[in-house]
Amino acid sequence: MQSTDLTKALHLLQSGNVVAIPTETVYGLAADITQPKAVEKIYSLKQRPLNHPLIVHIASIEDLSRYAQDIPDYVFTLAAALWPGPLTFVLPKTNLVDPMLTGGQDYVALRMPAHPITLQLIKMLGHPVAAPSANRFGKVSPTTPQHVYDEFGDAVPYILDGGRCEVGIESTIIDATHLHQSVILRQGILTASDLNKVLGRNLVQSTGEPTTLRVSGNLASHYSPSHPLFLGHNAEELREICQSYPNKVYVLSMQQYLDLPTPFQFVMPNDPLQYAYQLYFQLRIADQSNTEVIAVELPPDTEAWQGIQDKLKRAAVR
Ligand code: TXA
Ligand code: MG
Repeated sequence: MQSTDLTKALHLLQSGNVVAIPTETVYGLAADITQPKAVEKIYSLKQRPLNHPLIVHIASIEDLSRYAQDIPDYVFTLAAALWPGPLTFVLPKTNLVDPMLTGGQDYVALRMPAHPITLQLIKMLGHPVAAPSANRFGKVSPTTPQHVYDEFGDAVPYILDGGRCEVGIESTIIDATHLHQSVILRQGILTASDLNKVLGRNLVQSTGEPTTLRVSGNLASHYSPSHPLFLGHNAEELREICQSYPNKVYVLSMQQYLDLPTPFQFVMPNDPLQYAYQLYFQLRIADQSNTEVIAVELPPDTEAWQGIQDKLKRAAVR
């Protein structure tokens, strides 16, 4: 079910099936973009509404200009510096991109993922693959082959095993449909400052005017574990949650609190990169534990933590 047989993955894609693929961010559910029937299978497997567009994964910078047009210079600068990597551009599409991939919009999301076996697979296929995260709509994204199997069982015919994802949360998505400005549509591990540092100017804003582009990661409730997730700002708030559900709270804290009234506590790393690596992984462990709710201590309210703050707030009970 899961192994590292590239030829098998290739044959399945060529014959119109979906295959789960590793990327550096999270596992994706991939289909050949030139086969609408295969792309349809992604939507039905994920139970994803048809108007939610998919990210098109390419394996070379040249493919940017095949699948997108009117590309601003800053996109080439960012791609040269950060691809393959956890950054996705939304750009005007060319007619090689089926509207089915874009939810009927004229814009396509493009990314070159940083995983050698997936890049090799895309090159062997000779076409990009559409690949949303390999989880059911609204749920926590998978960061290991086993997570994908837990989500879909045998409904996904093959899981290409690339180990555990190094980044651990989804790519940063930016709106690249304007020549001289850009805004982050979905926060990830790369912040506006990271991108502006590459560009040497302040071009990317971390938030902006509400966009008309549809980004499903922007739904208020998303990335949700099965157990209700509560956020706490400090030990005191975590304690209150623990007291409301005696012995039924799984705590993900920023430091070890010896006096919290729960037997389940995992101390998360105090660094955004390492935290992201653990986030979905630990949420799944918490979900499977003998508890009923998850309590997460919010990390610092600074830009470096924005992607993680964003995922946590959308995962939380409101
Ligand atoms: O890290 C990632 O980006 C992962 C890995 C597998 O590459 N993929 C991922 O895909 O997170 P998905 O489908 O779970 O999220 C894709 C996001 C959605 O929020 C979607 O709305 C947005 O990208 N998106 C895709 N195409 C778009 C478009 N044409 N215009 C605006 N947003 C788009
Ligand atoms: Mg997703």
